[in-house]
Amino acid sequence: MKLVEIKNLSKSFDGVEVIRDISFDVEQGDVVAIIGSSGSGKTTLLRCATMLERVSGGSIYYHGDCMVETINGKIQYASRDNLKKIRRHYGLVFQNFNLFPHMSVLNNILEAPVKAFRQPKEETREMAMKLLAQMGLEDRADAYPCQLSGGQQQRVAIARALAMQPDVLYFDEPTSALDPELTGEVLKSIKDLKQQGRTMIIVTHEMEFARNVADRIIYMANGVIEEMGTPEQIFNNPQSEKTKSFLGRTLY
Ligand SMILES: Nc1ncnc2c1ncn2[C@@H]1O[C@H](COP(=O)(O)OP(=O)(O)OP(=O)(O)O)[C@@H](O)[C@H]1O
Ligand SMILES: [Mg+2]
Repeated sequence: MKLVEIKNLSKSFDGVEVIRDISFDVEQGDVVAIIGSSGSGKTTLLRCATMLERVSGGSIYYHGDCMVETINGKIQYASRDNLKKIRRHYGLVFQNFNLFPHMSVLNNILEAPVKAFRQPKEETREMAMKLLAQMGLEDRADAYPCQLSGGQQQRVAIARALAMQPDVLYFDEPTSALDPELTGEVLKSIKDLKQQGRTMIIVTHEMEFARNVADRIIYMANGVIEEMGTPEQIFNNPQSEKTKSFLGRTLY
């Protein structure tokens, strides 16, 4: 079953097309890394796929359910109720953690499931503590975000996303706001998630990580998918001159 299906996606800002004709599928358990230069449209792609931005064309399906469809140039989003259901399929982890600063770690995790989705508090609390333990943070449940390192905050953000039990997790440069010594601990947590069979779509500038963890690499350039393949294909045998040049610049 295709968990995510993106077809001919495009997005313009003020008449300027920043991504176009983006198509790819993600199966259960796939880890997809999206790489590419600054400004190539990676964040825009994630924002369109997660409804933070409206698309300018194309179609997106989660588990076969239509989020948005473009037929004969007419863009049609699903109904509000259906969009709410579809929203449950994915979680998002941002570059800058975006934790609620006035809430404890535990309450950051409980906020959406308990307050917004009215899940039972005790059960959800237990799950949240398990997720924190998995992130190595079980003893920080009562801390506030400002009392944590960037790497710890990012792991709380991952636990928070997981607490909604999404089928697929999106990451937008999860380590680029971190000092190098904190990057490793977050990448390790993401690797552990792969071991558990989590489906993930990860925008990253960490090429070694992409190579080791992803099942598939999408290389974006100037708003399009320039090349897509296994890490072996992309890193060891890139076909496109643009890919070769990008990797030449970033790997050495
Ligand atoms: N809200 C917006 N309004 C106008 N232009 C935008 C907006 N968001 C993004 N863009 C433009 O779209 C293009 C793609 O931006 P995007 O942020 O998706 O790139 P990116 O690949 O994520 O880059 P980076 O690696 O620096 O994060 C850029 O030219 C950017 O200026
Ligand atoms: Mg970006």
